[in-house]
Amino acid sequence: MSSSPSSARSLRSSAGGALSGTVRVPGDKSISHRALMLGALAIGETEIEGLLEGDDVRHTAAAMEALGATVVRPGADEPAGRWRVRGVGVGGLAEPASVLDMGNSGTAARLLIGVVACHPITCFFTGDASLNKRPMARVTAPLERMGATFVGRTGGRLPLAVIGTDHPVPIEYRLPVASAQVKSAILLAGLNTPGITTVIETHPTRDHSELMLRHFGATLTTQALAGGALAVSVTGQPELIGRPVVVPADPSSAAFPAVAALLRPGSDLLLTAVGVNPRRTGLYQTLREMGADLTFVNERTEAGEPVADLRVRGSALRGVDVPPERAPSMIDEYPVLAMAAACAQGTTRMFGLAELRVKESDRLAMVADGLKACGVSVEAGPETLFVRGTGKPPRGGALIATAMDHRIAMSFLVLGTVSVEPVTVDDGAFIDTSFPGFVELMNRLGARIEGV
Ligand code: S3P
Repeated sequence: MSSSPSSARSLRSSAGGALSGTVRVPGDKSISHRALMLGALAIGETEIEGLLEGDDVRHTAAAMEALGATVVRPGADEPAGRWRVRGVGVGGLAEPASVLDMGNSGTAARLLIGVVACHPITCFFTGDASLNKRPMARVTAPLERMGATFVGRTGGRLPLAVIGTDHPVPIEYRLPVASAQVKSAILLAGLNTPGITTVIETHPTRDHSELMLRHFGATLTTQALAGGALAVSVTGQPELIGRPVVVPADPSSAAFPAVAALLRPGSDLLLTAVGVNPRRTGLYQTLREMGADLTFVNERTEAGEPVADLRVRGSALRGVDVPPERAPSMIDEYPVLAMAAACAQGTTRMFGLAELRVKESDRLAMVADGLKACGVSVEAGPETLFVRGTGKPPRGGALIATAMDHRIAMSFLVLGTVSVEPVTVDDGAFIDTSFPGFVELMNRLGARIEGV
């Protein structure tokens, strides 16, 4: 079990030639967390192929073991990413003997708080300095209505004690923010709750929990409501059965080499077996609208999730408007989109970004400040970001603060692959939370990223 990244490691990215090659980026983080959690709640064995072996997911694995499941890491003769989970059945989790440390991961914390809220056990959750700043009231408020009790810091922040209920009640809950984490926390709490638990989302968010719950045998329905809203209902106390899970490559990780390739003339990149669930592909749609030569080839379905190979060629981009309703399908991709926008011809206007302020860092502020330091004209509002590109590589030449945020680090390293002067990030250690091997993979494709 690796712990949270601890030693700061500055990285510098300098412009090089075109990016080319065929690579597979690591497994999808959202699906990896869910595979471990549902595997732990199922009867029998779940074999997972392609699990993301990043720090965030390792924290989930350790937590599921602390809650009584058996997690078997790949043997020396097995491919990386082949993990097995032997579950305890819905309602069968045991009280952990110690604090559950979720590291940097909001998904791990919020989904697991949902899982344990409707078990008659008490758990203590904590995380690193970034996670302990993030709002948890968005999950504790609905879970209190289901019967759980919470003692946390102001705003429900971690460290947080969860006193699970032995008499859970089903709720119907309309999400006040578009959040797959909140939706999933409630659906997972609904698993050990008699009756039907319903979440209504006005702006549909990623549906990996729904797809995987069905895959494991739960009864889950979705109903379209007026105005594009969706009601997602889970029937409580099913018997989940361990199932094989194939984790696609993470479209949010593929975004970094994809944008880097777009920005270098002459690049030609193939990213294989990338998840292309339509609730995740807003970035790719936006890049195409900007003029990107980016295609999905060999589209197929693997274990219930749509997958494709992404062909990306160097392209001249132009600024576009990105509407607010697209935010849920590309919420993690705005930092790297902003790097593409900084190199595009014209202004890219991004709307509906309030949630960016409560990610691993205040991403709206971090992106705006970092781009300004690199000589880019940027205007940031409470929930908008306008980036004015000139169609030429920006100056670069700045030291970027990353605030324990993996995606801020990777985004600015992508900018450094084209900027006139190198871009340095103050701490690349957190990249391991979602994209272990990022620097090596990028350099194999032709980037020039080095430790300093
Ligand atoms: C995730 C949902 C999103 C996303 C996060 C992963 C998930 O968070 O930003 O990286 O796996 O459900 P929100 O639900 O808070 O928007």
